[in-house]
Amino acid sequence: MKEPLLFDLSSPGRRGCALPADDMPATPLAAMVPPELLRERDAELPEVSEVDVVRHFTRLSQLNFSVDTHFYPLGSCTMKYNPKINDHLASLPGFASLHPYQPAGTIQGMLALFSKLERLLCEITGMDAFTLQPAAGAHGELTGLLLVRAYHTARGNPRHKVIVPDSAHGTNPSSAHLAGYEVVTVPSNKQGEVDYDKFAAALDDEVAAVMLTNPNTHGVFETRILEIAKAAHQAGALLYYDGANLNALLGLARPGDMGFDVVHLNLHKTFGTPHGGGGPGAGPVGVKRVLEPFLPVPRIAQKDPEGNLCWTTTARRALAGCEPSMATPASSSAPTVISAPMAAVVCAAWRARRSSTPTTSRRS
Ligand SMILES: Cc1ncc(COP(=O)(O)O)c(C=O)c1O
Repeated sequence: MKEPLLFDLSSPGRRGCALPADDMPATPLAAMVPPELLRERDAELPEVSEVDVVRHFTRLSQLNFSVDTHFYPLGSCTMKYNPKINDHLASLPGFASLHPYQPAGTIQGMLALFSKLERLLCEITGMDAFTLQPAAGAHGELTGLLLVRAYHTARGNPRHKVIVPDSAHGTNPSSAHLAGYEVVTVPSNKQGEVDYDKFAAALDDEVAAVMLTNPNTHGVFETRILEIAKAAHQAGALLYYDGANLNALLGLARPGDMGFDVVHLNLHKTFGTPHGGGGPGAGPVGVKRVLEPFLPVPRIAQKDPEGNLCWTTTARRALAGCEPSMATPASSSAPTVISAPMAAVVCAAWRARRSSTPTTSRRS
């Protein structure tokens, strides 16, 4: 559909509104506006009726590619459900009108929701602590890799390599490079999994992390993930999980139980925040206990026995490997409000599954 410009719809003398006749004494413009700011001739504006304007902009708005009107073919982002009720909750003024620097005492409900989402994500992924600061998946990757760097630096050697399989999403090698690492690419085998022997050959004591997603970006589950985790840990490397494909595991299995030490999640892929034709996204990062001291500040903490919450900006800062990626404990309120109800449902499904699984077949 081709929409003409408003200028093409213009017709001399047509107006969008009719104002009553002015009964005030006229003041010449030159008496109010300095001469250098005065136009020499009238502005060339389209002369159109109100209905021309409304129809023109409504037609333009319908040309938008939106998640509500089209299939959005963007990998794992396509696979999820964006409940409208969650968008509605996020737009309630008590959430949507908050200021990022509002004193903690005035946003106890929001802090409680941030904290609740952190705990839900821990349980869903099998990690021990989460930060909601990163604002996108790639931002989460960079944060996660800077945590890896901080961890190794604190142990005396930041190491200089990160292993990434050739099936990885393009942001993985880019994030590793940005975090100051040399990227070592490991090929996939005929089944589309990481070639284990080539992976094992690439491992040495200069590898800081192995970045994987499971199922991988070929859509294939890495069946040797436990062996990969064991070998990586034996070499002193950390295992990083790109959680953009978490939909496939959600409520069934957890990266933390597979041996991953750091994960980032794309809330805009897995937890109902619209992606493509509406954001905002968020890329929270979860870690195992050993990495918690390196999480960026501010963190949410309990302030007093009554359960009031506050932000800690100084706690263990000396250990922090990276400057905070945000000045607030979360990238923004909307993804948290949109994602929290869905995370609660997933968590309930996970608990139900665990309670119906014989303890002997559980990993943790
Ligand atoms: C596997 C994978 N990792 C990382 C990302 C990066 O996420 P974001 O687009 O939120 O930065 C994507 C996004 O498409 C992805 O599919």
